[in-house]
Amino acid sequence: MNVPAPETGGKGGAHARHVAIIMDGNGRWAKKRHLPRAIGHQKGVEAVRAMVRGAKGLGLEVLTLYAFSTENWRRPEDEISDLMGLMKKFIVSDLDEMAENNIRLKIIGDYKAFKGDVVELIEGALKRTASNTGTTIAVALNYGSMDEIARAATKAAEQGPITPETIAAHLDTADLPPLDLLIRTSGEERLSNFLLWQAAYAELWFTDVLWPDFTADHLKQAMDAFSGRERRYGGR
Ligand code: FPP
Repeated sequence: MNVPAPETGGKGGAHARHVAIIMDGNGRWAKKRHLPRAIGHQKGVEAVRAMVRGAKGLGLEVLTLYAFSTENWRRPEDEISDLMGLMKKFIVSDLDEMAENNIRLKIIGDYKAFKGDVVELIEGALKRTASNTGTTIAVALNYGSMDEIARAATKAAEQGPITPETIAAHLDTADLPPLDLLIRTSGEERLSNFLLWQAAYAELWFTDVLWPDFTADHLKQAMDAFSGRERRYGGR
C-alpha cells in the first residue's frame, strides 16, 4: 500500500521522491496585469514546462500536477476550452522533448471524459513515453480525490474485503512512490479534493507565489524545507 513505513521517511535530511503541486493563481496573475485569464493559463503552462525540465535536476522521481479537477467543469465553457486547447498544444509542442529526456507521462483521473481529440493525443503521449525510466510526470486530469477513492473502493469490493491496503492498491497512484510533499501556490491553504488519501502523511508547503511566477528555484526551496522536517507517521 502506499503509506510509507516510518523508517523510510527519515528524521530530517530525507530527499523528497514524490512531490505534488496544486497550481493555483493563474487568474489572479492575469488580473493583476489587466490581462485575460487565458493569458494567465498560458503563462501557467510555461511554469509547467519549467517544472518538467527542472524535475530531473532536483532528483525527483515523480512530480504530480493538478491540471484539471472534477470541479473545474463548473468554469465557463470558453475557459474550459482554453485549458483544453493549452493542454493539446503542450502535448504537441513538448512531447518530443519529454520523450528524449526519458520522462514517463502518467495521467491520474478520468481523462476519458475529455473530447476525443484530447483523449487521442493523451493516449499517444502515454504510449510514446510508457517505457521511459526517468522522472514520472503525473498529470491530474478530470481528477477528484473523492471520485478516485470511490472508484478504488468499488474495485476493491469486487475482489474481496475493503481495507486501507486494498483501496490503496486501486488508487490511480498505486504504482507511484508515497507522496512526500504537497505544494499549493497563490496563498490558498486547502487541498481542494486533491490526493486526500495520499496526503495522509505528506508534508504540506504553501507559498504566496502565483503559479505563473513559480520556478524550479521555488520547487527546490520547498524540497529543502521538506528535507529539514522530521516525519513521525504517528510514532515518536
Ligand atoms: C488555477 O488557477 C489553475 C488551474 C485551474 C488550471 C491549471 C492548469 C494549468 C497551469 C495548465 C495545465 C496545462 C498543462 C499542460 C498541464 P486559477 O484559474 O484558479 O487562478 P485564480 O484562483 O487566481 O483565479
